[in-house]
Amino acid sequence: MSATVQSVPAHLDPGSQPTTQSTPNAQDFLPLKGTDHVEFYVGNARQAAYFYRAAFGMSLVAYAGPETGQRDRASYVVQQGKVRFVLTTPLRGGDAIAEHIGRHGDGVKVVALWVDDARKAWEETTSRGATSVARPYALNDEHGQVVLSSIRTYGDTIHTFVERTHYSGSFLPGYRAIAEDPVARPTGLLHIDHMVGNVGWHEMDEWVQFYSKVMGFSLYQHFDDKDISTEYSALMSKVMANGNGYVKFPINEPAEGKKKSQVEEYLEFYGGPGVQHIALATNDILHTVSKLSEQGIEFLQVPHTYYTELQSRVGSIDEPVEELEKLGILVDRDPEGYMLQIFTRPVEDRPTLFYEIIQRKGSRSFGKGNFKALFEAIEREQQARGNL
Ligand code: FE2
Repeated sequence: MSATVQSVPAHLDPGSQPTTQSTPNAQDFLPLKGTDHVEFYVGNARQAAYFYRAAFGMSLVAYAGPETGQRDRASYVVQQGKVRFVLTTPLRGGDAIAEHIGRHGDGVKVVALWVDDARKAWEETTSRGATSVARPYALNDEHGQVVLSSIRTYGDTIHTFVERTHYSGSFLPGYRAIAEDPVARPTGLLHIDHMVGNVGWHEMDEWVQFYSKVMGFSLYQHFDDKDISTEYSALMSKVMANGNGYVKFPINEPAEGKKKSQVEEYLEFYGGPGVQHIALATNDILHTVSKLSEQGIEFLQVPHTYYTELQSRVGSIDEPVEELEKLGILVDRDPEGYMLQIFTRPVEDRPTLFYEIIQRKGSRSFGKGNFKALFEAIEREQQARGNL
C-alpha cells in the first residue's frame, strides 16, 4: 500500500499509511459549503437535459433562454438530491461557448463552489495567484441577490464562487423555475462525492500546488504509477481536499507505459486538460445501478474472475456477491470500512467524460484495490475504439 496522506485533519484521515505529515492550515481562508453546481457547455442542451432526466433520473428545475430574456444561449438546470447540473448551449455560432464546444466537444466548463462570501473568495484566491475570469458581481431579481465571481483552473475549466445567502429563487436570477418534471425518473443519487481532472504530462504537481496554495486544499491521498498501472498503461493521481472535506478533486496525469493510457486518450480527444469523471454518491448502489441500467446507462464490465476472488480480498459485506456481479459493481476495503463503486462508459461520443456511482460504508478511499481490474476494462474499450 503506497497511498500517502499529508496534512489531513484527523477526522478526514482516510486510513492509509501516512508517510509524511505537515501542519494543517491554521485557518481555512476559503471555506466551502460544497459544490453548488456543475455547468456543461453542450451542442444541444435540450437533448442533453433529456438524457440526464430520463437516464440519470434528474428533474428539470429551472430554465433560462430567449423566453426569459437570455438572448445568446439556453440553459437547463437539472437536479437530483444535491447534484445540480446546468446544460448550456449557444444559440448562434462564433461565440466563446461555441468555440469551447468545437474544441472540446460537450464538457464541463464550470465547477461552481458554494460559499458565504464570493467577494472574499475571489480576493483570497486571486491574491494568492489565481487568474480572474470574472470579478465579483451581483445578480438580482424578485427572489433576492446572488453574488458570483470566477477564477481559472486547469485547461479551459473555471471555478465560480456562488454566494446565495440572500436568495430564495430556484437557481439564479434570470432563471424561470419549473415546478414539476414528468420526465424525471429518480435513481437515488445524493451528492457529488468527488470530481476528477485530467491534466497534461508532468502537470499534476503544478495543479496540486494550485489547489494547495491558491485554494487552501490539502493532499488527501496519492497514487503513483505502481498503484495505477496495467501491463500496458499507467497514470498518477493526487487527491486534493478542502478544509472540511466536502470538496475533493483528484488530479490525474499520464505516466509512461507500453501503450497509450486512458489519460492520454482523454487529452487527445478533449483537446487538453478537463474534467474526466464525476463521482455521484448513493445510499443504495444495487438499486441505483439497476435503475440506471434499465434507463439506458452503460457501465464498464469486469470479468467473472474479479468476483471469484472478491470475498477473500474484501471479507464479509452486506451485499450478495452474485447481485454485485450481475450489475458489475466493484468493492474495495480499507481499515475503516468498505466502498462499492462502478463506472459508466463515456457518456458522449468523444471518449472523454464518464461517471462513477459510489456508495461508502465507512471507507473514505478511492478503490485502489479495483484500479487494475478497472483499467483493464477501460483498455478493452480503448482497444475497441482503436486508441490503445
Ligand atoms: Fe473516482
